[in-house]
Amino acid sequence: MYSTLACALFWAAFFVATDHTSHPWAGYALLSAYFPTGSSSPRLVRMNTLPGGTWTLGDLTVSRFGYGAMQLTGPRVMGPPADRDGALKVLREAVDLGITHIDTSDAYGPRITNELIREALHPYPESLRIATKVGATRDAEGGWPVARRPEDLRRQVHDNLKSLGLDVLDLVYLRLGDATGPQPGSIAEAFGALVELQQEGLIRHLGVSNALADQVAEAQRIAPIVSVQNMYNLAHRHDDELIDRLAAEGIAYVPFFPLGGFTPLQAPRSAALAWLLQRSPNILLIPGTSSVAHLRENIAGL
Ligand SMILES: NC(=O)c1ccc[n+]([C@@H]2O[C@H](COP(=O)([O-])OP(=O)(O)OC[C@H]3O[C@@H](n4cnc5c(N)ncnc54)[C@H](OP(=O)(O)O)[C@@H]3O)[C@@H](O)[C@H]2O)c1
Repeated sequence: MYSTLACALFWAAFFVATDHTSHPWAGYALLSAYFPTGSSSPRLVRMNTLPGGTWTLGDLTVSRFGYGAMQLTGPRVMGPPADRDGALKVLREAVDLGITHIDTSDAYGPRITNELIREALHPYPESLRIATKVGATRDAEGGWPVARRPEDLRRQVHDNLKSLGLDVLDLVYLRLGDATGPQPGSIAEAFGALVELQQEGLIRHLGVSNALADQVAEAQRIAPIVSVQNMYNLAHRHDDELIDRLAAEGIAYVPFFPLGGFTPLQAPRSAALAWLLQRSPNILLIPGTSSVAHLRENIAGL
């Protein structure tokens, strides 16, 4: 582990020298929920150790090493995967390895990743937390049109409940900005619509994604959030101040594209993930992969 950490620190220095390398490892945690196995019963979650330990999202404990399900679709995050059985295996392996945080969206596919998650894992282990995002849909060309009117958000929350086979969503992010990144502007109307859905009992916890720091603060003035999900990795560190503020407030920061997404980082993946884990204790990893071997490799490399 220490050699990986040393490697991570080297690569962090390689990209940009910062003073953010002093946080200790959060340590390793025991995940110990047992359930009967079988096609119609929850999967066995093995007693396991995962790098980084755990974090609490509101009242929900998750492994800091999570899984991002976006890569389970066809090309350009559209349509079914070429290897459907392989996609189901990745999801089952993630849970078998002790991952209790899966990040998804009904816009992936659309619906494809949620349906795969349901097929692979429903009925869900009690320890598993599924986070989803609303605020964008898909068009026929694979674009991501913004859909943040209250009625759009209500429909998307119901779509996620249906495709995941849930009565309540653990964590719903309001996905802001557009496909080019965050955009300024008030989020009050859209975030308020999600708060209403939370008050109706359809959502346990709220977060914001692709958000500017002042939009995070605006959301917090309206209702508590447990997490912010923005683009951040070894090479893109625009959110350094925000991460530190959220850490002080006990709010998670979930970097998307932790490995560079569609533009892979010019650094070893294990170093990129190790650097994020040690960057701040409130950082939760959701690296994406469509491969069981890569999933195992990413965990073993830490
Ligand atoms: N909020 C938002 O706006 C937003 C935007 C984008 C993504 N997200 C979330 O963030 C998650 C992570 O982002 P991401 O999946 O796009 O990008 P990522 O985690 O940075 O990188 C995923 C890419 O890395 C490859 N990879 C992973 N492990 C590997 C290994 N050991 N060896 C070789 N290649 C490896 C994957 O290919 P293989 O499939 O071949 O392993 C895939 O192409 C997504 O799944 C999604 O849940 C959120």
